[in-house]
Amino acid sequence: MRGKPRLPLETLQPFLLDRPAVDAGPISWPAVFGNDRPVEIEVGFGKGGWLVEAAEHRRDVNFLGIEVMRGLQLYVANRLARRGLNHVRVLCSDARYFLTHHVAAGSVAAVHVYFPDPWWKARHKKRRVFTAEFAAAAERVIVPGGTLNIATDVEEYFGVMTALVAERPVFVEIGRSVESAPPEGPMTNFERKAHARGGSVWRANYTRT
Ligand SMILES: C[S@@+](CC[C@H](N)C(=O)[O-])C[C@H]1O[C@@H](n2cnc3c(N)ncnc32)[C@H](O)[C@@H]1O
Repeated sequence: MRGKPRLPLETLQPFLLDRPAVDAGPISWPAVFGNDRPVEIEVGFGKGGWLVEAAEHRRDVNFLGIEVMRGLQLYVANRLARRGLNHVRVLCSDARYFLTHHVAAGSVAAVHVYFPDPWWKARHKKRRVFTAEFAAAAERVIVPGGTLNIATDVEEYFGVMTALVAERPVFVEIGRSVESAPPEGPMTNFERKAHARGGSVWRANYTRT
């Protein structure tokens, strides 16, 4: 990735969450962050547009970003280190696996899934991150009163995701919109691109009862 030179690995290390051992069980958030503030998770943060901006504006929560691409984990760790965003960690893992095996029930204040890969070809659809199993995992890890937040520029995937959430009555919809202009607040890199080309963004927010 172009841009400023990468910081040394030892400088990035405090921002990296190492993948736990397979049999390690649920992770301890106070052990990871050194405090007991609420934890919010972003799944598939890409270049980190939303994660970095959200973290800059909200110091009262801890953020964990989960991204399957190691290069993006390091790229965003650089961004975090340069800004001193010590309340953020980035993990290189399949979010579906991590949520299921390493996050305790009711231990997360919010899950954010923005612009997940649509995997257009029928034979690739199983690679989609947002599946029935993912919705079940989100239900398990989000604390009552916490939120699930989704957005995409793919209307069909939005329909699939909202239908999967609708099958889980603990989630109550608190917002739904189709946006044709940039919203206030943090945006993802894909979101900026969608608006730059004049596309639409579908968004839904739920509270977990
Ligand atoms: C289309 S990009 C969107 C990135 C970012 N959310 C944005 O809106 O700019 C989807 C991202 O999800 C990541 N991803 C795909 N499957 C994943 C999984 N199972 N767990 C974690 N990240 C995943 C991809 O590597 C990619 O960076």
